Amino acid sequence: MTEQAEKPFLYVVVCAAGIAADVSKLITAAQERNWDVGVIATPVAMRGFFDTTAVETQTRRPIRSAWRSPGDPRPFPAPDAVAVAPATFNTINKWAAGIADTLALGTLCEAYGLGVPIAVLPCVADALAAHPAYRASLARLREMGVRFGDPYSGEPLQDGGRGEFAWERALDLLAPDAR
Ligand SMILES: Cc1cc2nc3c(=O)[nH]c(=O)nc-3n(C[C@H](O)[C@H](O)[C@H](O)COP(=O)(O)O)c2cc1C
Repeated sequence: MTEQAEKPFLYVVVCAAGIAADVSKLITAAQERNWDVGVIATPVAMRGFFDTTAVETQTRRPIRSAWRSPGDPRPFPAPDAVAVAPATFNTINKWAAGIADTLALGTLCEAYGLGVPIAVLPCVADALAAHPAYRASLARLREMGVRFGDPYSGEPLQDGGRGEFAWERALDLLAPDAR
């Protein structure tokens, strides 16, 4: 058995939010906590939201974004846990509604049935977060046992900064007793 195969496998689902440019921080932190990491990105996220070459080098695996062809082997092992970071308004709402029209969404919809822990770090502007559908989506996903980090809007603070995106919180939320 290789060293990689002995580690628990974490799916990091990356959506098309600007903060995705820093997703390597989450991958580094996960690897330091002994996770083997595979990245699944939405098709929009693949279009310039993060450095895909650097992430593939970091994880030593191809990023998955489209479904494999029938008959092709599964590129990733089954997940032991899933971290969605950053999570967009779009993906959160579609996931809660049970829509599976991207590989990322299909993976998230299925993860619930697999019973693995799922942690989400939303990155959603306040104006979007006010939409009633978003609040309903959060409530539905919470009922399903999905664990959420604090809201993050990415909007400038009073001091002009944007506040830290708490990447490592996603890993903390995957602990057995976390909520
Ligand atoms: C530069 C840029 C930054 C964006 N940042 C965010 C964001 O932080 N949060 C969000 O929900 N949508 C953001 N969007 C909009 C999403 O990219 C858009 O809703 C997209 O359809 C999301 O697709 P996905 O959920 O499949 O990744 C951004 C768009 C652009 C062009």
